[in-house]
Amino acid sequence: MKKLIIFISGRGSNMKRIIEETQNGILKDVAEVVLVFSDKPEAPGLAIAESMGIKTETLSSIGLKRKEYDEKVSEIIEKYAFDLIVLAGYMRILSPEFVRKYPKKIINIHPADTKRHQGLDAYKWAFENHLPETKITVHYVDEGMDTGEIIVQKTVNLQGCKTLKEVEQRGLAVEHKLYPEVIKKLCYN
Ligand code: GRF
Repeated sequence: MKKLIIFISGRGSNMKRIIEETQNGILKDVAEVVLVFSDKPEAPGLAIAESMGIKTETLSSIGLKRKEYDEKVSEIIEKYAFDLIVLAGYMRILSPEFVRKYPKKIINIHPADTKRHQGLDAYKWAFENHLPETKITVHYVDEGMDTGEIIVQKTVNLQGCKTLKEVEQRGLAVEHKLYPEVIKKLCYN
């Protein structure tokens, strides 16, 4: 059974779905979530994780340099044995030192084709540019922002979406299905 640590900064809808899949879905007996970590002590996802029986830890980054902060994060997560770090709405860029410490052990999900759009507000970008589709991307995390090796992409049809909310809803529905599937494949590798 592979051990996952999920990193979040906010609402944690991907996190919730992954936990559900480990407890009662496609990841049952394949993977377990040993920790949810957040850089934001107020992240709503933390309470959700706790209500699902998952251990959580947080560390505010206020006043700490990136490298210093990530060293402390390493200390926290290394108390747990883990196979994979799953970024799910984690809004910090990881330091090169942190990324190098865990080669091919950190993955992220991004709401757009990372070759075309990196960073924040990818659904907004798709909506404002009237894109007929977006490509949800799951990728390994390297030292750049959303530049790591692509593991899988899934196209979402955005035609007919009249609001940003609709775009997000369609996209998130695909994210929630895709991310656990990718994790499952990686767990078998
Ligand atoms: C998702 O759209 C994910 O692709 C992006 O951040 C958002 C996180 O949403 N990286 P949630 O916290 O999982 O609900």
